[in-house]
Amino acid sequence: MKQGSIKHFLNTQDWSRADLDALLAHAAAFKGRKLGDELRGKSIALVFFNSSLRTRTSFELGAFQLGGHAVVLQPGKDAWPIEFDVGTVMDGEAEEHIAEVARVLSRYVDLIGVRAFPKFADWSVDREDRVLRGFARYATVPVINMETITHPCQELAHALALQEHFGTSDLRGKKYVLTWTYHPKALNTAVANSALTIATRLGMDVTLLCPTPDYELDGRYMGWAAENVAESGGSLTVSHDIEEAYRGADVVYAKSWGALPYFGNWDAEKSTRDRFRHFIVDEAKMALTNDAVFSHCLPLRRNVKATDAVMDSPRCIAIDEAENRLHVQKAVMAALAGQ
Ligand code: CP
Repeated sequence: MKQGSIKHFLNTQDWSRADLDALLAHAAAFKGRKLGDELRGKSIALVFFNSSLRTRTSFELGAFQLGGHAVVLQPGKDAWPIEFDVGTVMDGEAEEHIAEVARVLSRYVDLIGVRAFPKFADWSVDREDRVLRGFARYATVPVINMETITHPCQELAHALALQEHFGTSDLRGKKYVLTWTYHPKALNTAVANSALTIATRLGMDVTLLCPTPDYELDGRYMGWAAENVAESGGSLTVSHDIEEAYRGADVVYAKSWGALPYFGNWDAEKSTRDRFRHFIVDEAKMALTNDAVFSHCLPLRRNVKATDAVMDSPRCIAIDEAENRLHVQKAVMAALAGQ
């Protein structure tokens, strides 16, 4: 997305297909060459409002390997809590406003990464992505989404892993299943939104498999998927039938998420959620596929979301996808810092 003259990486949907393809090609090149100087003398602030293993490690190391430097900040922990409302009387917990935070960081660093999950109380508020948008509004350097209500870096890593597996950048015609899986807690829809977005963007025949219509994704992302299908020539089907969805699939991608109609009322969702433990990805379901590859963004609870056998199978490319986070983020940082 361009805000003024700055190009950010907030969602892949803001980027042209040609620009995404260029990022993926650059990421593939980085995979063969660990070190570079694309970020020499440059720096990135990594602002984490939530926990991370992969994102933090891969961004920090990616910046280092390209000659740059990363500063990790955790507002409310090792940095001041931030206010995002405009015109508010700041007599609560926040010590400073995003207007100052983003502008000050922009004087120090060349890029800002932001991880800010939903608050899980009111989807109509969380769907505005106020933290990420606040940084993009006030920063005078490019902002990168490190997972908010979408996870575009994961999308690129996933796309690269699929292209590597199938040995082609053209994934049209592949049957792609995004399956909801059980998890004891209601989780973010970000990765599901993103998987739906990138799989349709790449022209695959996509099935969104979820237990009931309550688990369908927000209209914004269903709409992006429909736009992508119209443009790329793939298809989008919503299914609540496990066998039908898995049969003949080339790709199975799993994620758990909370049902949006219950957003903020998770105790009421729990009894429904607990009826769908059988959505676990297991060998019997994978046997219905066209020898599909399986992946997940990680972290993953074994034998809850997917069985040990699926995770340990040679068809599982989740570790490749996780590795690709490093390479795709190098490509994103290099592209944005080189503006
Ligand atoms: N997939 C992913 O973003 O992992 P982390 O939450 O560990 O960063």
